Amino acid sequence: MTAQTLKEFLEESGQPVALRVLIEAVSDSCRSISALVARGALADVLGAAGTGNVQGEEQKTLDVLCNDEMMTMAKACGVVAGAASEEEEHPALLTAGAPYLLLFDPLDGSSNIDVNVSIGTIFSVLPRQGGPDGDGDASFLRPGRDQVAAGYAIYGPQTMLVLTLGAGVAGFTLDPPTGQWLLTSPAMRIPATTGEFAINMSNMRHWADPVRGYVEACLAGATGERGKDFNMRWIACMVADVHRVLSRGGVFLYPWDKREPSKPGKLRLMYEGNPMSFLVEQAGGRAIDGTQNILDIQPSALHQRVSVMLGCSEEVDLLETAHR
Ligand code: F6P
Repeated sequence: MTAQTLKEFLEESGQPVALRVLIEAVSDSCRSISALVARGALADVLGAAGTGNVQGEEQKTLDVLCNDEMMTMAKACGVVAGAASEEEEHPALLTAGAPYLLLFDPLDGSSNIDVNVSIGTIFSVLPRQGGPDGDGDASFLRPGRDQVAAGYAIYGPQTMLVLTLGAGVAGFTLDPPTGQWLLTSPAMRIPATTGEFAINMSNMRHWADPVRGYVEACLAGATGERGKDFNMRWIACMVADVHRVLSRGGVFLYPWDKREPSKPGKLRLMYEGNPMSFLVEQAGGRAIDGTQNILDIQPSALHQRVSVMLGCSEEVDLLETAHR
């Protein structure tokens, strides 16, 4: 297949050289992670690492290896002043004076690793502002609207890199024999309507009324108030669930619930909610926490959580109305 390479796409994008260098470096790391993931037990990378991360979650061996890969890359590429990871409490100070801050979840959907189901890497790029080094949590605490690039790699039946530089969403497929990322989905768009939703239904008893009401209306199907049947999917990996939404539409929810009432939800704003919301908006969809656009949230902590409802605009509008 003759298709544009990621390098060619970046050259044509008109973006600053430093940003192109960073995206290529991220893509190199994702290629390495993909190779590790594909070998699984053969590379002795499955199972628990025996450590916990800053969120108090058990780390898998791959979580640790992928975090090391991403941090090493961020340092080596020379254009990242500071990098923040889901796996580390504070950002790492990397190249003083460099133009960008990088945030990432090195391996999303960790519970899928050992059962050979899709997992991914999520990244978000902010321009450095203020101090020369981008050190300390404070320099990272900016709304998602400030992102200049965001994306993810999905390690599934194919490995793909899905990217926005603020002018639409493009998907590249990794060609393993050549190691090239080839443009296979030049303009990913989320249809305005859908008949598919994604939520972990086992939490239903904990949901707030607006979410419960919305899902009950979907479940009521053609004879209910929505007047149509809905299908449900849940891969338990945000990357894979959002990839489906970007590929064929749908709505994805991980809302606030009563299990931890003082926290806004399970997913993290800075390296899960923000990059995915940027992609979804760039693909014509919407992303809210219930009442406001996720990209407009002013963060107060690096690892803060967020309630997430994203995808087809018609469904997100309904959820927003229900919350109001
Ligand atoms: O970030 C954590 C994560 O693995 C997401 O990728 C995924 O959407 C969610 O957790 C799944 O959570 P649960 O196991 O509660 O369904």
